[in-house]
Amino acid sequence: MNEASFTFEDYRAIARWILERTPHRPRVGIIAGSGLGGLGDGLESAHVFPYGDIPQFPQSTVAGHAGRLVLGRLSNVPVVVMQGRFHFYEGHSMHRVTLPVRVMATMGIETLIVTNAAGGINPAFNVGDIMCINDHIFIPGMAGHHPLIGPNDDRLGPRFPDLSNAYSPTLRRLAHEVAAEQGIDLRDGVYVMVSGPSYETPAELRFLRAIGADAVGMSTVPEVVVARHQGVKVLGFSLITNKVITEPRESDEPMELHEEVVAIGNQRAAVLRELVRGIVARLGA
Ligand code: 6GU
Repeated sequence: MNEASFTFEDYRAIARWILERTPHRPRVGIIAGSGLGGLGDGLESAHVFPYGDIPQFPQSTVAGHAGRLVLGRLSNVPVVVMQGRFHFYEGHSMHRVTLPVRVMATMGIETLIVTNAAGGINPAFNVGDIMCINDHIFIPGMAGHHPLIGPNDDRLGPRFPDLSNAYSPTLRRLAHEVAAEQGIDLRDGVYVMVSGPSYETPAELRFLRAIGADAVGMSTVPEVVVARHQGVKVLGFSLITNKVITEPRESDEPMELHEEVVAIGNQRAAVLRELVRGIVARLGA
């Protein structure tokens, strides 16, 4: 089978297909997570590519996630923004989840800025906080769902990539400088990826807290691993959309978490967007 194991040649063909249709040569890639798609709407001289138009691209299916790639200039820096990403829980293989990052890296981005909506595990975090990701725990990856499983193409990166500084210390320092200038109280912490799509049980959340996670979500880490494999520098932010519940609830009524996640994303999107814009401006300087 090997359905979605793409090759170096596939990445190059898709990257060329896009670059033939736009004059932009992006230096920075940005992945806009749940409710954060507005990150791509403010680009200057934007060229928009719906995922359905791009050869071999999957379609994203989740409410609150537009599915398109936007190339343009942000703070006068050429960028490519993914409005909506592919999730493992949608049934995409890890190779398909990470295809757009492979293509962005092949197009020549030097830096990837990833964003997501996440549940706050660290009890000091509040809804609406922005966390600068300083490390991750890749639960599906550790359990065998890893985007680099399979033959390694050395033209992309090494067989055994180092992830000891996956989230660039230099970029994290820059993020804190820009956040301080903008009056944002930027948090730091460890992002844990679970597969979803069910939210965690209270017992699972106590487990994740015990192993050192500060925020939990269902995305981002596969893309980061692949970007690091290809030598792209990474900066990541989690928007804390809810505080997780670590004791079983006494009520039989369900919680409607997805709507809350998207709503908080929409409310705080402007702040995160401005932070990313400020960081990109400094990358171009
Ligand atoms: Cl509580 N869990 C997960 N896995 N993802 C989330 C979340 C929680 N809140 C926002 N995204």
